[in-house]
Amino acid sequence: MSSLLEKIDHYRRLFADQVSRVKEARQVEELRQAFLGRKKGHLTLLFEEFKTLGPDEKKSAGRLLNELKTDIQNLLAELEQKLQSPARVKQLEDLTLPGRQLYWGSPHPITLFQREIERIFISMGFSVEEGPEIETDYYNFEALNFPPHHPARDSWDTLYINDKLLLRTHTSPVQIRVMEKKKPPIRIIIPGKVFRRETPDPTHLPMFYQVEGLVVDRGITFAHLKGTLEYFIKTLFGEKIKLRFRPSFFPFTEPSAEVDIECIVCGGQDAACRVCGGSGWKEILGAGMVDPQVFKNVNIDPEVYSGWAFGLGIDRTAMFAFQIPEIRHFYENDLRFLRQFNRR
Ligand code: PHE
Repeated sequence: MSSLLEKIDHYRRLFADQVSRVKEARQVEELRQAFLGRKKGHLTLLFEEFKTLGPDEKKSAGRLLNELKTDIQNLLAELEQKLQSPARVKQLEDLTLPGRQLYWGSPHPITLFQREIERIFISMGFSVEEGPEIETDYYNFEALNFPPHHPARDSWDTLYINDKLLLRTHTSPVQIRVMEKKKPPIRIIIPGKVFRRETPDPTHLPMFYQVEGLVVDRGITFAHLKGTLEYFIKTLFGEKIKLRFRPSFFPFTEPSAEVDIECIVCGGQDAACRVCGGSGWKEILGAGMVDPQVFKNVNIDPEVYSGWAFGLGIDRTAMFAFQIPEIRHFYENDLRFLRQFNRR
């Protein structure tokens, strides 16, 4: 019988030869049994033999035997992994399995509508400005010609942060901020969030969006205001849409008007319509010629310049554009609603 060292060498070659033929995970297990099996594994038997050696022989054989064992263990583990993962990949590549559905996000309908409004005004040469949602009493009221304690403030009641700071009730304060910095000609729109002390109903919310418009130059008249708004509304709703200007009051415009469009929800046919209350009309914006006092507050000479402004409710107008009879749908985050605006 050859020496243990020779046997170790023999089994190392035998293992190398057999391992090179392995093609399936099952064969890895067979090899493991053949070499490392608890009773008859080749290495197990070699270890038995090792015990019978004298101390000198043990020294060299012990190291080689242990090395062979760890090499075999490592190679088998590696091989096992290699053979398993392609199998898994193959399973995933099964083209008959149903695909996983992907959901794409999309802009909120109010954002889509705001962009549409911006596009129309930009095409007429307007630029877009923004301002803070937390405002001072001065910009939200005083500079817009609402004296302290004036009853006109009642319809713009809001949430106060302290004596001086409040959540803005309209985008009009940004008119003041812009006119303080820029001199005419001015041709801007100002979209943004506004806040009011309102009880929610199908057309009211305590937070909503407005877009403000402001034009200031020499020789600007009410005819420019009317023409611009008519063009804007007809571009949004089509040539046939009916609109009307009604005299109104705002402390910061004189004269003032409100603009109604025909109720697209009921077409004026439903006396109990929850959107127009049966009148057939719904107000969508307030407007007017900039009050001379407002110009004085920002050091623009009202003898030289004139201008107009408007403030439009974006949510309310979007209700008509998308034919949605309930403003609260916009903020309930119901995916069944929101997905209808996914334009992909
Ligand atoms: N700020 C007014 C509102 O919130 C609308 C408005 C803007 C009216 C500009 C006239 C001019 O109701």
